[in-house]
Amino acid sequence: MIRVAAVGDIHMGPDSRGSLRPAFETLPDVADLLLLAGDLTRHGTVDEARVVAEEVAGLGVPVIAVLGNHDHHADQTPEVTAVLEEAGVTVLEGAATTLTVGGTVVGVAGTKGFGGGFAGRSAGEFGEPEMKAFVRATRRSADGLRRALEELADAGCALRIALTHFSPVPDTLAGEPTEIYPFLGSYLLAEALDGGKVDLAVHGHAHAGTEHGMTVGGVRVRNVAQPVLRRAFAVYHLAPA
Ligand SMILES: [Fe+2]
Ligand SMILES: [Fe+2]
Repeated sequence: MIRVAAVGDIHMGPDSRGSLRPAFETLPDVADLLLLAGDLTRHGTVDEARVVAEEVAGLGVPVIAVLGNHDHHADQTPEVTAVLEEAGVTVLEGAATTLTVGGTVVGVAGTKGFGGGFAGRSAGEFGEPEMKAFVRATRRSADGLRRALEELADAGCALRIALTHFSPVPDTLAGEPTEIYPFLGSYLLAEALDGGKVDLAVHGHAHAGTEHGMTVGGVRVRNVAQPVLRRAFAVYHLAPA
């Protein structure tokens, strides 16, 4: 069994420095890797990113992250990414990474994702340039996820995990107002998951949502936003093929 720890939306700032560290230090005993599902900061500043970096540096398990919309707010994503990478975090955006856990090759494909809504109730690439740009941004992100998953298929991973900030399914949004579903995720991400053999899909962003969901194609989806989990992280056990 591979033990996957995951959490998103930790929204750290200088006043929360050290708050997650005691729980994270237990990770080597309970998990083989830690996934961070975006919104690691409040406003995406370098100072906030440094707090996150201190929280996860040298934990003794690999840490893999995607950024969230909050991490984009200050328009400093290259700097935020660099601070996290200096602390040993692998930051994915339309990319994949593999690690070997006890002889099992585990692959993680990640992208922030974006909104647009879900089948039958989604934004279309039509009309104003702003609307087209919105939908195209989501499509680019989903295409990046699909390519990253294909890369993992070629690498012969025994387990494949998808990591996003925005949700691929509406199931894990239950509890959020339906009016904002189009800003919480997109079915295009689910189509990318269903196109590849994905063992687990992890996302955040929907603070008032629900932990458990599934794509139409049967991929297990987990919303690991910390306000949903109400604990430092969740651990999912996956059996390699
Ligand atoms: Fe968040
Ligand atoms: Fe978010």
